[in-house]
Amino acid sequence: MGLWSIIKGKGTQFKGPPAVGQALIKSLPTSEMVESCSIAGPGFVNVVLSAKWMAKSIENMLIDGIDTWAPTLSVKRAVVDFSSPNIAKEMHVGHLRSTIIGDTLARMLEYSKVEVLRRNHVGDWGTQFGMLIEFLFEKFPDTDSVTETAIGDLQMFYKKSKLKFDLDPEFKEKAQQAVVRLQGGDPVYLKAWAKICEISRNEFAKVYQRLRVELEEKGESFYNPYIANVIEELSSKGLVEESKGARVIFIEGFKAPLIVVKSDGGFNYASTDLTALWYRLNEEKAEWIIYLTDLGQQQHFHMFFKAARKAGWLPDDDKTYPRVNHVGFGLVLGDDNKRFRTRSTEVVRLVDLLDEAKDRSKAALIERGKDKEWTPEELDQTAEAVGYGALKYADLKTNRLTGYTFSFDQMLNDKGDTAVYLLYAHARICSIIRKSSKDIDELKKTGKIALDHAAERALGLHMLQFAETVEEACTTLLPNVLCKYLYYLSEEFTKFYSSCQVNGSAEETSRLLLCEATAIVMRKCFHLLGITPVYKL
Ligand code: ARG
Repeated sequence: MGLWSIIKGKGTQFKGPPAVGQALIKSLPTSEMVESCSIAGPGFVNVVLSAKWMAKSIENMLIDGIDTWAPTLSVKRAVVDFSSPNIAKEMHVGHLRSTIIGDTLARMLEYSKVEVLRRNHVGDWGTQFGMLIEFLFEKFPDTDSVTETAIGDLQMFYKKSKLKFDLDPEFKEKAQQAVVRLQGGDPVYLKAWAKICEISRNEFAKVYQRLRVELEEKGESFYNPYIANVIEELSSKGLVEESKGARVIFIEGFKAPLIVVKSDGGFNYASTDLTALWYRLNEEKAEWIIYLTDLGQQQHFHMFFKAARKAGWLPDDDKTYPRVNHVGFGLVLGDDNKRFRTRSTEVVRLVDLLDEAKDRSKAALIERGKDKEWTPEELDQTAEAVGYGALKYADLKTNRLTGYTFSFDQMLNDKGDTAVYLLYAHARICSIIRKSSKDIDELKKTGKIALDHAAERALGLHMLQFAETVEEACTTLLPNVLCKYLYYLSEEFTKFYSSCQVNGSAEETSRLLLCEATAIVMRKCFHLLGITPVYKL
């Protein structure tokens, strides 16, 4: 139809779109992929994939592994800047979203053969440290021997010092001087700073370990030594101007400029981000740099991206590499449709959410008598896989640009589009295979797949869309694309299983292999979404 609109009225021999389509079909080279072609409707060319080719592709995957289905992206090295909490402050649900979505994007890129630098851009430098250090000195005159347990809850510590800062002018004065000393490199202050960072780091590490997320910390302080030179470079390119005592970059489309040196001469969030970008492009040779924060920071990113374009660090076209993307996400909401908080209006502590998800899923398993069937370890591991998986999947399945309402009841429901439902579906497939008492690894080598039944064909077709789905999720930076794929995969499997008998049927071998292939693709999806699969439930 597209071709017809181009050649129409230009003396063509064809009489309409169907005739063009016919000619196209005639000229198509023969391919083992294609069973038949036909013209449909006003001129669509329908291509029917060969069932034999589809079956062969799945058989090959069973033998050579699912990694042979990985897409290949044109990028060699990428930075994913995610999680990135602030030292001495608690990680909150916003950081949870950043951690979960960022980890998934990193996993998908890694699977697609991109080398990923997983960067934790922690907020470990800034004026809050003056107050924290002074408070530390006051509470623990013998700073060297301070331990994590002595300080206790670092967030509490932060709050108390902030209170003192706001109420006690003498303390405030000291805190401000402490910042100057710290930034001037005074070893005593640097040591205290390092201590606070270390305690905070250990707290964060516990969360990452539980979520099985790997990150390499390169905090804001890492870029300090490079900032002055970078600002110098931008100045020499004529980008930096004086404005109200500060040094700024004016950017089209934005009223207020981007401040890169504060009026007191200090650097800020923007100068650090510009420097980190410079470092990632020049020192780390990354071609694609991806940042995860809530949408509230969108303007900051758009502004410094534009500044980098003006400096010639990035091409004008934002789809050409080297490329930067701000992957923003919406808020997590509570039942009241407001920002998710606990009753005491405190921020929600991440560890508490993880605990509760696990506890609730354990209670559900016990209710189903699993504590009598399984060992305590099995019960614990399954509760954790299901609980954490549910939490992650609830976050990943909606388009990240919209917020979502946090609900344990919903995410732990065993029906509908939840991780619990999907993990059940996977466990059921595993149980079908177990019940056959066949050696599936042996079958893989010798057995053949046939996709004769419509439901078998539909399942096979969906499986074969795996690679393009991962590629789409990577290029659009939308993990929900993969979630939807996984959900439909389990739906297609259910349709297949309710219309095709597996064990004891004449087609048993082929169908068992289809079960196994489905389970493998599901597990790869779980893996890419950071969810631990379970084999019985
Ligand atoms: N620490 C920041 C926050 O908690 C997020 C940092 C994101 N990364 C970056 N390069 N700016 O809001």
